[in-house]
Amino acid sequence: MFDLEKVTRENIKNLVSYSSARDEFSGSADVYLDANENSLGSPLLKWYNRYPDPHQHAVKTALSAIKGITSEHIFLGNGSDECIDLLYRCFCNPGKDNVIICPPTYGMYQVSANINDISIKTAPLLEDFQLNLAHIETLIDENTKIIWLCSPNNPTGNSLNRADIEIVLNNFDGLVVIDEAYINFAKQKTFIQELGEYKNLVVLQTFSKAWGLAALRLGMAFASKEIISILNKTKPPYNINQATQELALKALEEVGQVNDMITEIVDMRIALADVLQQVPTVEKVFPSDANFLLVKIKDAHKVYEFLLTKGIVVRDRSNVKLCEDCLRITIGTEKENTILVDSILDWVEQHEN
Ligand SMILES: Cc1ncc(COP(=O)(O)O)c(C=O)c1O
Repeated sequence: MFDLEKVTRENIKNLVSYSSARDEFSGSADVYLDANENSLGSPLLKWYNRYPDPHQHAVKTALSAIKGITSEHIFLGNGSDECIDLLYRCFCNPGKDNVIICPPTYGMYQVSANINDISIKTAPLLEDFQLNLAHIETLIDENTKIIWLCSPNNPTGNSLNRADIEIVLNNFDGLVVIDEAYINFAKQKTFIQELGEYKNLVVLQTFSKAWGLAALRLGMAFASKEIISILNKTKPPYNINQATQELALKALEEVGQVNDMITEIVDMRIALADVLQQVPTVEKVFPSDANFLLVKIKDAHKVYEFLLTKGIVVRDRSNVKLCEDCLRITIGTEKENTILVDSILDWVEQHEN
């Protein structure tokens, strides 16, 4: 049985969180002399002299309408990367606890574990890039606090089988974090609606992909109210800046435009996969539920270098286990995709014999 008390670090349970000026007075007043701000104003927008809302109420209210979940289930981080780091800091004891990662997958689960001195157990994905449930089971011990799942997975692009994720959720007594950074491009539906069912579930999403706002640094974690309140009490008081809160709020009014971009990107992904599949040196285009394609191509590293000479940067994943001879290619604009394909065809022509 999942027991949040047992999973949470002792120092975090006992933590008295920082009480900011905005926490101690959240009403409205004529004269604010409580936060040592610059009362004269700012060289930028007038109100930028003031600290932002530490709890991002407006953004969360707008998000909760879109996601169909109340604000108490939402945490906002400085990118998903901050959510990943905070999950380690709240739930994993340095030098003692461990987590399970299923590579090839997003690198920050490992880097953040290393920063926090948490040991890592790996259960590599199977040949078809699905979970090796039997292997995961053998790795779990009493100090295993988190199992990281990424669906759709980066860099492989596929969604993990929903039934497999449910098996992990039902059988693991620690936290199961499902990173859904690419979920908007997938046929699979989000696990957010399952939060009522699984108390050990944390879902991560981000504004960096489908929302087109990587520069703002805004990530989301969805979980039980209890988990969210632990993340809230541990985060830096003003982790989401005012400009990001304002711009995210504006973006959230444009769901229609974002949905149109998602449709366009998915259509282009399907078209690009089709074209690449026909290129003679391309051995495989892996099925993708994301906004990128994993492409197995002969002499991948050399193709990578050739593309660089043409001013095109893709991600060389050929040194990653299970991704040997693979490039990860983000879906570009129509024009960029055409330039990419033409350049790969140039390479093929030059190396035909
Ligand atoms: C699976 C996955 N999760 C999280 C992130 C990072 O998201 P953010 O920009 O919100 O920190 C990435 C970025 O590439 C990613 O691929």
